[in-house]
Amino acid sequence: MPVNLTIDGRPVQVDPGQTVLDAARKLGIAIPTLCHVDGFPPAASCFVCAVKIEGRPNLWPACALPATEGMVVINDADEVRDARKTALELLLSDHTGDCIGPCRLGCPARLDIPNFISRIAAGDSRRANAIVTDDLTLPASLGRICPRLCEQRCRRCDLEQALSIRNLHRFAADQQRDAGLPHLPPKDPPTGKRVAIVGAGPAGLAAAYHLLRRGHDAVLLDAHPLAGGMLRYGIPEFRLPRRVLDAEIGVIQKLGGQLRLGVRLGQDVTLDNLRREFDAVFLAVGAQGSRGLGCPGEELAASALGFLEEIAHGRPPRLGPEVVIVGGGNTAMDASRSAVRLGAASVRVLYRRTRREMPCLMEEVEAAEAEGVKVEFLIAPERLERKGGQLRLTCLRMELGPPDESGRARPVPVPGSAFDIEASSVIAAIGQTVSLTARHIPDLQFSTWGIAVKPQTLETNLPGVFAGGDGVIGPDLAVRAVAAGKLAAASIHQFLMGDKVAGAPELIHSVMGKLDETELAELFRDIEGAARTPMPQLPPSESRATFAEVELGFSPEAAAAESKRCLGCGCGKALNCRIRQYAAEYHADPGRFGGERRLFRRDLTHPEVVYEPGKCILCGACVQVALEAGDDLGLAFFGRGFATSVAVPFNRPMAEALKTCAKRAAEVCPTGAIMLRGTGCAGCRFA
Ligand SMILES: Cc1cc2nc3c(=O)[nH]c(=O)nc-3n(C[C@H](O)[C@H](O)[C@H](O)COP(=O)(O)OP(=O)(O)OC[C@H]3O[C@@H](n4cnc5c(N)ncnc54)[C@H](O)[C@@H]3O)c2cc1C
Ligand code: SF4
Ligand code: SF4
Ligand code: SF4
Ligand code: FES
Repeated sequence: MPVNLTIDGRPVQVDPGQTVLDAARKLGIAIPTLCHVDGFPPAASCFVCAVKIEGRPNLWPACALPATEGMVVINDADEVRDARKTALELLLSDHTGDCIGPCRLGCPARLDIPNFISRIAAGDSRRANAIVTDDLTLPASLGRICPRLCEQRCRRCDLEQALSIRNLHRFAADQQRDAGLPHLPPKDPPTGKRVAIVGAGPAGLAAAYHLLRRGHDAVLLDAHPLAGGMLRYGIPEFRLPRRVLDAEIGVIQKLGGQLRLGVRLGQDVTLDNLRREFDAVFLAVGAQGSRGLGCPGEELAASALGFLEEIAHGRPPRLGPEVVIVGGGNTAMDASRSAVRLGAASVRVLYRRTRREMPCLMEEVEAAEAEGVKVEFLIAPERLERKGGQLRLTCLRMELGPPDESGRARPVPVPGSAFDIEASSVIAAIGQTVSLTARHIPDLQFSTWGIAVKPQTLETNLPGVFAGGDGVIGPDLAVRAVAAGKLAAASIHQFLMGDKVAGAPELIHSVMGKLDETELAELFRDIEGAARTPMPQLPPSESRATFAEVELGFSPEAAAAESKRCLGCGCGKALNCRIRQYAAEYHADPGRFGGERRLFRRDLTHPEVVYEPGKCILCGACVQVALEAGDDLGLAFFGRGFATSVAVPFNRPMAEALKTCAKRAAEVCPTGAIMLRGTGCAGCRFA
């Protein structure tokens, strides 16, 4: 007799002995499953298929629950979703695997680093560059100036030194540009929608790139005579040659991006005009304002931004022989190195904290020092005066006190420590501000840092108006501006298509974090130490006299050698791992039940599969497969409770098990615990 039941109010008929899961499938209702394998007896161990049955207490695993006459199954309910979320969080709490390479998690643009590096290793810079530009607009420019947040997380740091990731994406992009083959991605059919982008810096350019790919028109308006934002008017030529930036902007123009230059929002055009003329607006106005020295006489100091911009316009200001720069960030370093190149006899940088707290890459400071800049610490300006033809900067010595709101030690003046410095020019490199304010656009809401947005979508308070980059978060990094441009394009596309504006929700990432010594030994087994490939550079004796680029770029041989150091971290199952997909669907937080994770182990002895017990969810599917295959040596559960694992009996290596059924075992494994070699994501070294 057939069995009749309902699921979420929909009637369905199944054969006796069939489960609630079978009934749901008949109705086309997707119930998640992990431990269940069709044709095998239910393990009912993961509980992600939980459903509610009317009239019964608790929740029940749909995969193991026989359908009964008149049963009323509830699948679509908060209680059910919560139970599944908790089940996933428990499974992930001791899971040991990096879904994506730690380097990729470190890059704000989530560049697929192992994948593009694997293409360089294979000698295919064209493909490498195409992979890079998918996530990272302006890869040659960022390949010169990014502070390499990715490299700090590189697993290779635990062996000797990080991969030279930044230099490798610079290499791929430079190769293609020099060959006249920049990557032009395919474009979706035209949508007829038009987007105004105010600000043609990295955020605006990245947004334009991604909007154009989706078939929208993108018009970039900028107050400056040329596009590029701070990459053109802030960062000096010796770090980022203009021909490199121009070529990358040229790609966006080739894709159809239009530039309207010399147009200032709030002066030449209003936001209302733009909202009328366009279907959406993206505000990418950066942090273009400068802070003064904050002491009497500050009007006598030049602003570092103004100074650098004049150089960019080809009108280098006269500085005189003794230049003092106040500040400790990128801008201070760029201004000091530019002053050296303009012929100043003495260039001093004064910073109120110590070298450790400097908010720029240490290599920038070292490069400045090598070129003759004197960087002095724990000094703050007190007063600036003109004395005859010279400037006199009265300073105080500082000492470090308790941390301030930024978390860095607060500099405190040392009483009676005032001293004077004579200078021909004083340049303030104290910080930047967002210069577009409520004064220009009264309807737009602002936060403490800049334009107020919803962080997930970059929507402002005005419908159809989005904002991102430095203009939202204050002075920051080009890579984060590029990432913001990509996110804005995703949100704007949803808005233009009439979809729910949701931004670009990320998949959940399992993260192993720090590995202990035994785990590192496992990770680096058979890996030979290989030092990081050095970047060829102009020697300081030459570089200090020219605005020509200092870092000269990798040769093909150097890039090949460096790319071969990559360990291909990340999980080969990342794109089709069910636990990861469900975790995203149910908004599971892998860290919710933070506890001890399992140890990282990797059995590489089998010719067809790789086994990582730390990713096993103990569903037993592979044990069943091995049993069914009847091999001499299969797989079995060992241990109890937390220490339970699936392994080959008698402590034998995987090579001796799964003789005839390795492929099938990998197929049924719902995670990346058993992975077939050669089927994983590109870039993964093993699978
Ligand atoms: C000297 C210096 C050195 C730096 N070094 C580094 C580095 O080494 N690495 C790094 O990652 N980052 C560095 N940065 C920071 C980086 O340049 C910025 O984080 C990045 O450029 C921000 O991008 P954005 O698109 O948000 O804004 P921006 O690059 O500032 O672009 C904003 C654009 O908007 C335009 N605009 C502003 N207001 C209006 C208006 N009202 N109407 C029309 N147009 C307008 C401007 O003309 C500009 O072109 C540096 C910055 C400076 C100043
Ligand atoms: S098995 Fe899945 S969850 Fe685990 S690391 Fe691999 S992709 Fe991530
Ligand atoms: S953009 Fe920066 S953080 Fe991202 S991969 Fe390049 S160097 Fe690394
Ligand atoms: S070794 Fe390669 S994949 Fe692994 S973290 Fe470093 S760059 Fe990324
Ligand atoms: S308990 Fe049903 S799929 Fe795991």
